[in-house]
Amino acid sequence: MTRIAIYPGSFDPVTRGHEDIIRRSRHFADRVIVAVAVNPGKDPLFTLSERTEFLRVAVGDEAGVEIRAFDGLLAKFAEKVDATLVVRGLRAVSDFEYEFQMALMNRTLYEALETVFLVPDVGLTFLSSSLVKEVARFGGDVGMFVHPTVRAALAEKFAR
Ligand code: PNS
Repeated sequence: MTRIAIYPGSFDPVTRGHEDIIRRSRHFADRVIVAVAVNPGKDPLFTLSERTEFLRVAVGDEAGVEIRAFDGLLAKFAEKVDATLVVRGLRAVSDFEYEFQMALMNRTLYEALETVFLVPDVGLTFLSSSLVKEVARFGGDVGMFVHPTVRAALAEKFAR
């Protein structure tokens, strides 16, 4: 049996923390589908194709890892791609309430879908896409937190 996990998110943009969770997911899943949400409500800094491309550059060469975009309900997309696991990263207790609700809703919508929570490397627990964008917006160096391609894209975005 092939165990397929789905790792959904906005990835606006992908950080070293996301990359770490993707690699860890491969320890228990044969295939990991990184699912980039269209999420029009979130008004992302980067377009869907930029966010997807950054993931391709950062983790696209990893064995068993696929990058896909999805629109609409995660539960429906998971069912379509035969995924039975959703992977979410937990960085702090404050993440938990929302994640708990999402896990239960997703399983209610598609009963085969279990959610597993992973914690990133301890050195990356403080990291989020929002913080990275804020640091970059004000000219801080984000080279430690993102792939060089993402760093360059952030620098270009905020140079204007
Ligand atoms: O990286 P994020 O922004 O925390 O990811 C949130 C995401 C994209 C996983 C979540 O908003 C989602 O699953 N959106 C798709 C729509 C959906 O299924 N909503 C109901 C979730 S219970």
